[in-house]
Amino acid sequence: MKLFLDTANTAQVAEIAAWGVLDGVTTNPSLVAKEGGDFKKTVLTMCKLVPNVSAQVTATTFEEMKKQAVEMSGWHKRVVVKVPMTVEGLKTLHYCRGKGIRTNTTLVFSVNQAILAAKAGANIISPFIGRLDDIGQDGMELIAEIMQAWSHYDFQTEVLVASTRHPRHIADAAMLGAHICTVPYDVFKKLPLHSLTDIGLQKFLKDWESVKKK
Ligand code: G3P
Repeated sequence: MKLFLDTANTAQVAEIAAWGVLDGVTTNPSLVAKEGGDFKKTVLTMCKLVPNVSAQVTATTFEEMKKQAVEMSGWHKRVVVKVPMTVEGLKTLHYCRGKGIRTNTTLVFSVNQAILAAKAGANIISPFIGRLDDIGQDGMELIAEIMQAWSHYDFQTEVLVASTRHPRHIADAAMLGAHICTVPYDVFKKLPLHSLTDIGLQKFLKDWESVKKK
């Protein structure tokens, strides 16, 4: 499973990329607003660090989304244009597929939306699991349903588990065979940790001290 960082903070991308485990970054207008700065510069900095950087269009009509998609994809070959799951978005996905522009469909909340986005030509679909959990539904159940549907067909579209909120989401996504999982910085930092690893290392180091004294 590929791991993406869900952030618009370039320092966070540089830090996690240095671990050797990062396959990409997902940004969205809310994350960009939180960090401030010039969006294009941010995206280009990230493109030097990871092979995939999702940059979201902010228009809502096909004509405008199309223009933004062409512009953003021209910034760098590592840019993946993020398009919202709307009818205008579907037209944009179809257009981008024809032009060889890579796309990620955002705000996917149902299997039917996933199928439509895949058929329109999305390279990636992003079901938001945490936001389903927030309204009392089981977000991971949607991933299970999409992966089950995918198992019957030959969709090339990758399923990216988005809106993850805690480490268990990442493990569950992998066990369901999701292709990609995007992870917020604070959750990513928790992934390498286990209390038994810390306790075990302390004991090894303490025992090694006694070997050195002999
Ligand atoms: O990148 C989109 C998604 O991961 C947003 O997550 O926490 O705002 O629901 P969240």
